[in-house]
Amino acid sequence: MNIVLTGDRPTGKLHIGHYVGSLKKRVSIQGKYDKSFIMIADTQALSDNALNPEKVRDSVIEVMLDYLSVGLKPELNTFFIQSLVPELAELTMYYMNFVNLGRLSRNPTVKAEMKQKGYGDQIPVGFLCYPISQAADITAFKANLIPVGDDQLPMIEQTNEIVRRINNHFNKNILEECKPLLSNVKRLPGIDGKSKMSKSLNNAIYLSDNRECISRKVMSMYTDPNHIRIEDPGNIEGNVVFKYLDAFDPNKDEVEKLKKHYEKGGLGDVTIKKRLIEVLDQELNPIRLRRQQLEQNKDELLIMLKEGSEYARTIASDTLAEIKKVFYLNY
Ligand code: TRP
Repeated sequence: MNIVLTGDRPTGKLHIGHYVGSLKKRVSIQGKYDKSFIMIADTQALSDNALNPEKVRDSVIEVMLDYLSVGLKPELNTFFIQSLVPELAELTMYYMNFVNLGRLSRNPTVKAEMKQKGYGDQIPVGFLCYPISQAADITAFKANLIPVGDDQLPMIEQTNEIVRRINNHFNKNILEECKPLLSNVKRLPGIDGKSKMSKSLNNAIYLSDNRECISRKVMSMYTDPNHIRIEDPGNIEGNVVFKYLDAFDPNKDEVEKLKKHYEKGGLGDVTIKKRLIEVLDQELNPIRLRRQQLEQNKDELLIMLKEGSEYARTIASDTLAEIKKVFYLNY
């Protein structure tokens, strides 16, 4: 059986970094495997938003709107809400006994996030442990294929470590190892050129942004600070406009020509930015239109998520029962 599972934290609307990094890949593989689960990870979102639960709650529907607008189909995927499957929390509790603190603190993605959030020595324990809960999310469904962006690779590694420890120790193939399904576009930088596009850095273009908003953001994009006059030779390296053109422009040959021209000199930032605005608008316009239609029926989306969660629960509770048996908790 090939089982796909993936998800996102609902901490706001999804942006084009999510889109090229993972959503597009999910759309392209949907229907190809035996089962597919897409989880809105509200529990995980609370691990660094515990004092902001309304934001998480409101974002659940926003993320679902983004999912359906990019073309993920309810007939081909089970969408569910993490907290509506409490078995995942219970599994997390058991898995915690198989991971040590040093291992958790060395997780590169968690380390980067802690630095960005400036926790210092005030790290919420729940936050440090979210890779364990992610292992529970994945293994509860016996998922072996995980479409995610490359920042999630350490979570996959952590999951497989837990799986191996439990399988080896109890000498049974109880849990399934998993592997990532990566998209071919590496992580998109923010419009300010910082390595990560994120809501908290205020450098994101959202899937739901309108044309005017996209234009404004592209026009403010980081390019080459030394490319002052049009005739100056420009630098492609670290130039966000070209990074985005690489990710979105269907005409690769033309982009290569533009890069050469830019490096030689004589091609202005405004010209490439205008091209990028067109390219982005072409790609995002149908997504936006679908979103507007779906926004009329937000109640239906919640119903769909609740139904998906009920089904997800039946599967997670079967796995939990198997695990509890192994741990002598089958009273
Ligand atoms: N950590 C993921 C994110 O930040 C969300 C997530 C939670 C997830 N559980 C998962 C992704 C399981 C893949 C598989 O977006």
